[in-house]
Amino acid sequence: MLTNSAVARLRADTPGCANVTHLNNAGASLQPRAVTDAVIAHLRLEAETGGYEAAAARAPEIEHTYDAIARLIGARPDEIAVVENATRAWDMAFYGLRWQPGDRILTARAEYASNAIAFLQTARRYGVQIDVVPDDETGRLSLDAMRGMLDERVKLIAITHVPTQGGLVNPAAEVGRIAREAGVTYLLDACQSVGQLPVDVDEIGCDLLSAPGRKFLRGPRGTGFLYASRRVLGLIEPPFLDLHAATWTSPDTYEIRDDARRFETWEGNYAGRIGLGVAVDYALEVGVDTIKARNDLLATRLRAALAERPGVTLRDLGSEQCAIVTFTVAGHDSRTVAKTLVDQGINVSVSIGDYAQWDLSPRGLDAVVRASVHYYNTEEEVDRLAEAIPAPTRA
Ligand SMILES: Cc1ncc(COP(=O)(O)O)c(C=O)c1O
Repeated sequence: MLTNSAVARLRADTPGCANVTHLNNAGASLQPRAVTDAVIAHLRLEAETGGYEAAAARAPEIEHTYDAIARLIGARPDEIAVVENATRAWDMAFYGLRWQPGDRILTARAEYASNAIAFLQTARRYGVQIDVVPDDETGRLSLDAMRGMLDERVKLIAITHVPTQGGLVNPAAEVGRIAREAGVTYLLDACQSVGQLPVDVDEIGCDLLSAPGRKFLRGPRGTGFLYASRRVLGLIEPPFLDLHAATWTSPDTYEIRDDARRFETWEGNYAGRIGLGVAVDYALEVGVDTIKARNDLLATRLRAALAERPGVTLRDLGSEQCAIVTFTVAGHDSRTVAKTLVDQGINVSVSIGDYAQWDLSPRGLDAVVRASVHYYNTEEEVDRLAEAIPAPTRA
């Protein structure tokens, strides 16, 4: 567990802590100084020596990012593609799969909106069937229901580990066991879990995993990565190819590269890539178990403080909950509550029903306020948020 002096050191390392109470880590975390410095240093080097020359000079740092991500999630560096965001990482895997009419996709109610839209597009294009696994009595996806829904037509299990719109942690590793037993490809959206929870691809048993840099990893915006296991790598043809993803071997032939970088493009944000590596190193140095323990403490405190506030209803589902805390206030639109908090220097966000059609809308929720803690937050910040909640009004 982090001591108060360790938290003070981490905060001293985080310039943004002096300006705001940042409880929007599920949006984008405040960066540690080391990350910002690395990005700026690379941009300077590009300006001073040339973009290609800077990349050549910093090749070891760029390569290191793959090693760091691989270490973080228990993968091999050649199973990592560094891309511009989590959606692009997920898309490169998903749109690389081949479909026949009647194939089925098993997903869950917490699925991210962009993924759901991609399923719907694929259903429309290829006659694929989307089956949303119902929740169990705690609100996480029901493993029994998932088992019961499997048949030989299921070609993909694609779920979101931690949703954007709540503190639920879906049972990713149990789903992995189901997928392995059934021999079905398993794509995990780990956008909100990587950086706040220990995520190990072998333990989880996923074939594909997507994550961004800017959220709980505290990396630069415009960065993300895809893990593509060696088991499936050769089976997934990227939807786009360029001269980095493939080699033009003769005037009328090409060969796709055999590592995960087949999902990348040649041009990229090198400053961001270096910064992402620094952010991953930083998370590893703090320790993912330590991060989780501290986040559990802060989120539990926040939930308890909010539960005491009149008119507040906590909205997080599941038997295991994480650093994302969602709630509504009786008689107040969640957007207005969030604005009231932001106006007081407390950064939170709102998750809206339109972005969670299989989750918030069926629960009758048009929007929820989302507060997301991270290990560098303090108990005082968490209490400040609870105290700043407006009094309930009659609906
Ligand atoms: C669960 C989940 N998946 C995917 C994404 C998309 O990530 P990105 O914006 O990096 O593409 C988000 C973003 O909030 C998310 O919360």
